[in-house]
Amino acid sequence: MPPILVVHGGAWAMPDDMVDAHKNGVRQALATGWTVLQRGGSALDAVEEAIVVLEDDETFDAGRGSFLNRDGKVQLDALVMDGATLRAGGVGCVERLKNPIRAARKILSDSPHVYFVAEGAERFAQEQGIALCKNEDLIIPREVARLQEYQSHGTDRKPDLFAPAISHDTVGAVALDNKGNIAAGTSTGGTLDKAPGRLGDSSLIGCGCYADNDTAAASTTGWGEPIMKLVLAKWTADRVGAGHPPDEAASDAIHYLKNRVNGHGGIIVLNRKGDFGIFHNTPRMAWGVRSGILDVVGVEKH
Ligand code: GLY
Repeated sequence: MPPILVVHGGAWAMPDDMVDAHKNGVRQALATGWTVLQRGGSALDAVEEAIVVLEDDETFDAGRGSFLNRDGKVQLDALVMDGATLRAGGVGCVERLKNPIRAARKILSDSPHVYFVAEGAERFAQEQGIALCKNEDLIIPREVARLQEYQSHGTDRKPDLFAPAISHDTVGAVALDNKGNIAAGTSTGGTLDKAPGRLGDSSLIGCGCYADNDTAAASTTGWGEPIMKLVLAKWTADRVGAGHPPDEAASDAIHYLKNRVNGHGGIIVLNRKGDFGIFHNTPRMAWGVRSGILDVVGVEKH
C-alpha cells in the first residue's frame, strides 16, 4: 500500500505575513512524518511525529506558543486514534506537557483507559517517562500581549472570538501506512481567553479526530463548540464508510457545520485507498500532503 500523510495547521483568516511561517511549519511536519512512513513505520507513529513538529513550532496554537486562557495560562488538549484497533488516547487541560500528543499516544499504547485530564494526565505522563515542564515554559510574549490586548476591551466591546478572523491554529494529521492502516491525531491550545477547564473539540473522540480502517481517518480544526455538537470527525468518517469519496465527505462536513450550527473551520480526511479530502470555510487553512507522488503545501482552497 503506498503511504500518504496529510496535515493541517489551523483554519482562519490567516494574514499574508503569516503564510510563509504556516507553510514552513506544515512542510517540516510532513517531512518528519513522511520519514516514518517511508521507513515502513506505522500511520500512528507518523501522525504522532508530525504533530510533535507542529506543537514545537510557535506559529501554531498547539504546544508552546498556544493561546492563553483567562488566567494567563496555557491549557492543552490532544487526541490520537488508531484505525486498525480503534484504540485512542486523549488528554485535556494539561498545563505541564510540552507535547501533549506524546502523552495521548502513551494512553493509547500503555493504558486501559482512553482519556485523562489535568493533573491526572500529567501524573500518568510522568509515570510513563515523559518529563513535565513549567507552564511558563509554554508561554511566549506574543501570546501575553495578545491576551492583554483582548482583555483590555470592555466586556461589551470585546472582539468576537469565534469569528473566522480569529486564529484557530489547532494542528492535526492523518496517515496511511504501507500495511494499509490509517490513523488520526489533533492537538490544540484551544481558544483565546477560554475559561480555565474549558475543553474544546480537539481531544474529544469523534469530534477533534477519528480513525477507523473500515471508514476513514479525519482531523478537524476551527471553532470547537459547533464541531463538538456535530461529532464532526466521526460524522465525516461514517460518510466515507457509506460510500462518499473523502474529498466530497470533507466538503459535505464543512457545509453541514455551517448550515446546521453556523460553525466554521476545516477538516482533512483520508481512507485506506489513499484518497483524501481537504476542505475549510475560513478564508485560509494551512495544509499539506506528502505521498510517493505528491509533496504540496498550501493555505488556500485545495
Ligand atoms: N478547535 C479548537 C478548540 O476550539 O479548542
